[in-house]
Amino acid sequence: MKILVTGGTGYIGSHTVVELQKKGFEVIIADNLSNSSIDVVDNIGRITGVKPLFEKIDLSKEETTQDLFNRYPGLNAVIHFAAFKAVGESVMLPLKYYRNNLVSLMNLLREMETHGIRDIVFSSSCTVYGQPDVLPVNEAAPIKKAASPYGNTKQIAEEIITDVSKVTALQAILLRYFNPIGAHESALIGELPLGMPSNLMPVITQTAIGKREFLNVWGKDYNTPDGTAIRDYIHVVDLAQAHVIAIERMLEGKNKQNVEIFNLGTGIGYSVLDVIKSFERTTKVKLAYRFMERRLGDVEEVWADTEFANQELGWKAQQGLDEMTLSAWNWERKLAGM
Ligand code: UD1
Repeated sequence: MKILVTGGTGYIGSHTVVELQKKGFEVIIADNLSNSSIDVVDNIGRITGVKPLFEKIDLSKEETTQDLFNRYPGLNAVIHFAAFKAVGESVMLPLKYYRNNLVSLMNLLREMETHGIRDIVFSSSCTVYGQPDVLPVNEAAPIKKAASPYGNTKQIAEEIITDVSKVTALQAILLRYFNPIGAHESALIGELPLGMPSNLMPVITQTAIGKREFLNVWGKDYNTPDGTAIRDYIHVVDLAQAHVIAIERMLEGKNKQNVEIFNLGTGIGYSVLDVIKSFERTTKVKLAYRFMERRLGDVEEVWADTEFANQELGWKAQQGLDEMTLSAWNWERKLAGM
């Protein structure tokens, strides 16, 4: 089975390619390397023994996308990760986000139809729930108005896929990720943010290694047990494995609807201080952190109801917070040549 993985050199994409190849899938990666490195292709090869095919391609260009599909006949399915994901940047540069994230999806869907490719797994986000009224949040919870253009691209993309599936053969599984962190146990692949990252885990590891002076904890006056915001952190390898199950589900015709939606989280909420404590405990490194004002656009608390994914996909996240924080640290150390 041949799977096209867009954004396959990115953080979640690269871990998914590893899991696909471990299961015997043949992978073609399409990525424009705008936020990843070509070295990832070799490192996937070192982990799995198979170097995936790689195409440096901008999917927001129609002709380039057409050409890609023409050159790879016989694709069985697509996993679509390729997208910009920096929330703050999306507020400053909305058109960059709408054009890249939505045009590339539309180009892909058109080529899939032209070439008779039915199945797509799409990277969505728990950001579509905003601050949920009920926790844990399940897939039937209402979609809240997006707080950023980035979040809006995820909502609109879900709608585009759903609309197209009504009038074509398209089948989709939309995976709503909670907060993926951690890295592959080999420390050969991990999160490689270009520029200054703003997500919690890379900020923690960069502070610990000395690339930053402080970790700013955004807000200590939330209505939570320790006052810091709560998220559902999930190990990126657990997340990657869910993609393989989702693809197999559609390829084997086990999906029950044209478009299915699953939350991917652990079902456990941890505060920012919980993550810091786990990091300090597992790595024995003390973090320099200080409390600051809340970050604009942050929700107070969100964690997943994972019942549907557990039951229907037969998938459950296996790794705990300590494994996540330790693997993230091992990756940061490897990057630093330690
Ligand atoms: C958000 C979205 C997620 C999206 C991601 C992309 C929600 C609930 N989640 O994740 O869907 O994919 O952006 O970037 O909308 N924090 C600090 N100090 C830091 C960095 C973070 O205290 O330097 C705190 C944040 O305030 C937050 C938690 O750590 O409470 C996690 O933050 P982050 O890793 O940025 O992810 P989200 O904002 O939850």
